[in-house]
Amino acid sequence: MKILRTRHEFEQHCEAERKSGRRIGLVPTMGALHQGHLSLVRRAIQAGDAVVASVFVNPTQFNNANDLATYPRCEADDFALLESAGVGAVFAPTVEEMYPGGQQRDHDFDLGAVAEVMEGRYRPGHFQGVAQVVSRLMRMAGPCRAYFGQKDYQQIAVLRRMKATEGLDDVEIVACPIHRGEDGLAMSSRNRLLTPGQRKTAPGIYRILRESVDYSRAHSVEETRREVVERVNRLPECRVEYFEIADADTLQGIARWTDADSVIGCITVYCGQVRLIDNIFYRPLPEL
Ligand code: PAF
Repeated sequence: MKILRTRHEFEQHCEAERKSGRRIGLVPTMGALHQGHLSLVRRAIQAGDAVVASVFVNPTQFNNANDLATYPRCEADDFALLESAGVGAVFAPTVEEMYPGGQQRDHDFDLGAVAEVMEGRYRPGHFQGVAQVVSRLMRMAGPCRAYFGQKDYQQIAVLRRMKATEGLDDVEIVACPIHRGEDGLAMSSRNRLLTPGQRKTAPGIYRILRESVDYSRAHSVEETRREVVERVNRLPECRVEYFEIADADTLQGIARWTDADSVIGCITVYCGQVRLIDNIFYRPLPEL
């Protein structure tokens, strides 16, 4: 596996792969890799892409200095995992390489209403930072397919909008299913920050979400929302930051189940100091 440190090396690698007739499969990550990331890699490999993963803890998307400081970093382990998964190259730049001359924004992105709710409301500036780094990665990679996990459902919606408004027409965004542990906990780099006790509690979040789908058959949107919040808040060390039930296309909140064809519930929970996110579809009613 090639380790690419500079923008020039990254661009040259992608260009050479394309010249040899291969399509680039870009898997952007912030490292601290887990099976969820590897499922994106596997999907890209199955599609026949020349996979380039990026490992870059992007400072511009953190609105909390402590969160950035404590974000897990383990480059050597990440590289070993990527190599064993069959990745051809990893782009792991420094902050200076990614943001030469400082971290100023080149411009504000038009991310629309999908970026204003949920994470947008609780993490001001977060999606501008995500758009900034992902648009740069996409421009460097050139025409490609870019793979993202649906745990960050809103992020994918925002990136689709960014792709359209930035004219990144030769990039295809591929949304991949959430990868869960056997106990149901959505895979996340932050899971490794959980204490053993919190790690036992955290799967309760998805259990409650699943059970709420059944509950939603006979209860209103607001009743379902309240039920989830109350139950998750009763889990030891857990505090819901938000739980929104929304139109899965626009991410705007709904009042009745019939207000949208596709309805998603998105939750953010502090388990101790660790911020976990997850989501579940309510409509069409899934088979769970
Ligand atoms: O989802 C993530 O890990 C990050 O937001 C991303 C897309 C790699 C951008 O830094």
